[in-house]
Amino acid sequence: MTHYENKAVVLARHPEGALQISDFRMEARSVRALEPGEFLIANHWLSIDPYTRPRLNRHTDYVSPIGLGEIISGETVGVVVASRTLHYQEGDKVFAYSGWQQYHITNDQDFIVHKLPPTDLPDTVFLNTVGTPGRSAYFGMMRIAKPHAGEVLVVSAASGAVGSIVGQMGKMAGCRVVGIAGSAEKCRYVVEELGFDACVNYRDDDLKKQLRHACPDGVDIYFENVGGRISMLVAQLLNEGARVPICGNAAQYDKGTDVNVSSPTAFFSSLPDAPTNRFFLVTEWFKDYPESDMWLLKALSEGKLKYRETLIAGLENAPQAFVDLLNARHFGKQIIKIV
Ligand SMILES: NC(=O)c1ccc[n+]([C@@H]2O[C@H](COP(=O)([O-])OP(=O)(O)OC[C@H]3O[C@@H](n4cnc5c(N)ncnc54)[C@H](OP(=O)(O)O)[C@@H]3O)[C@@H](O)[C@H]2O)c1
Repeated sequence: MTHYENKAVVLARHPEGALQISDFRMEARSVRALEPGEFLIANHWLSIDPYTRPRLNRHTDYVSPIGLGEIISGETVGVVVASRTLHYQEGDKVFAYSGWQQYHITNDQDFIVHKLPPTDLPDTVFLNTVGTPGRSAYFGMMRIAKPHAGEVLVVSAASGAVGSIVGQMGKMAGCRVVGIAGSAEKCRYVVEELGFDACVNYRDDDLKKQLRHACPDGVDIYFENVGGRISMLVAQLLNEGARVPICGNAAQYDKGTDVNVSSPTAFFSSLPDAPTNRFFLVTEWFKDYPESDMWLLKALSEGKLKYRETLIAGLENAPQAFVDLLNARHFGKQIIKIV
């Protein structure tokens, strides 16, 4: 096998409060020889995701924490460059959970890895609309929100990878869709380009008034991506029979050292007229991914779903890209171009 030198980003220390670039360290490692059944992926694209942040804490009840010196976890798209299994050939394009590294060895029993389906769409859509963000939107909407025409849907982090798909699915279902986003530019994008009916800027002083104005008939579905103050404001507008799929708690991720990601569940469940609410992990529907992928690929190919990406060159820039993401300085899906 050709000799390969790997580059990886590892956790140098657990963040104390807000994430710092110095919490990470780059490491160079030689790629070992392959065992039978294994194959080597050269990663081209790396997804940067808010939900990775709780995993950097010493303790988390979300998913298992990442230890000191361990490679940061993350989804990738790359190309097989060496193989000792008949199931994967050199040149196959694959999705994998490689982490923040250039090369990744896995084997043909790895159930997360899969070959990309043939399509004219860019490879990055498999980290975005036809990946975890799109599937989270799809299952949160189809399995928990179950929207009906004429209902009012509010979605937070509306211009992000998940929120943008949620809102567009809401429009397809015939809902009035109101986004919540953090700048005038992001609000303009979701209304003018994605077709939402309205969008309010959560940084504006009169947010409460703006929300009431945008939802004069109340809210039937609140798709929760951020938690905190936004949840409390939207909760005041929920109609009888409202549904609240709880996808994430992004407002809290970079705050402390121990983050309880399901806390919007505690908040919504404690309301006097509690809406139907449920925190979900998209992997609950792992077996149903063919259904979501087919729907999302079709909608994308037919131009019914739009998306936006921020592409940043160089694995060494992943820590900065992550800090930027947690401070909402990105626009759309944040992706690293590794090579
Ligand atoms: N449950 C699952 O299986 C699953 C899977 C994937 C993602 N998720 C969750 O889905 C959510 C969205 O993910 P994404 O990848 O699409 O990220 P994203 O929307 O691109 O980024 C998170 C956004 O949250 C918003 N935000 C952060 N702090 C806020 C605050 N204090 N008030 C209001 N908004 C705030 C910001 O929106 P602005 O840019 O508008 O300021 C920020 O850009 C995250 O919570 C993520 O953890 C869950």
